[in-house]
Amino acid sequence: MELSVGQVAKRAEVAVSALHFYEQKGMITSWRNQGNQRRYDSSVLRRIAVIKTGQQLGLSLEEIKQALSSLPLNRAPSQEEWQQMGQVWRSILDEKIWLMTKLRDELGECIGCGCLSLSKCRLRNPQDALADTLGNGATLWKQQK
Ligand code: FES
Repeated sequence: MELSVGQVAKRAEVAVSALHFYEQKGMITSWRNQGNQRRYDSSVLRRIAVIKTGQQLGLSLEEIKQALSSLPLNRAPSQEEWQQMGQVWRSILDEKIWLMTKLRDELGECIGCGCLSLSKCRLRNPQDALADTLGNGATLWKQQK
């Protein structure tokens, strides 16, 4: 079943501009009918539901796009395809939970500090992968000088 842009916007409860944005990002697709009007396969409603759910979970558009890449563009996904997408989301969410737990546990060191220093604060610079082996901050840059 094919839907117009207005029908998709109404049924998915999103703005038409959001549909154009998702399409521009390659998250959904449409085609033009003989009257040059956009048409969507009804399976687009599930893809939009995935996008909205991912946004509610705090995933970035790139992470949502990555998960959507395992789903077919113009037909309903099979059970196996849903499971594959679920695995992608699970690993993304596991990583976010790990990072948030780590940040929460390290928050205690910052209470009363407030420096938010790039060189020593784990909250400000949580991705400092070399901190455990080389020390905090721009260690490699300091070594090169
Ligand atoms: S705010 Fe100072 S170490 Fe985090």
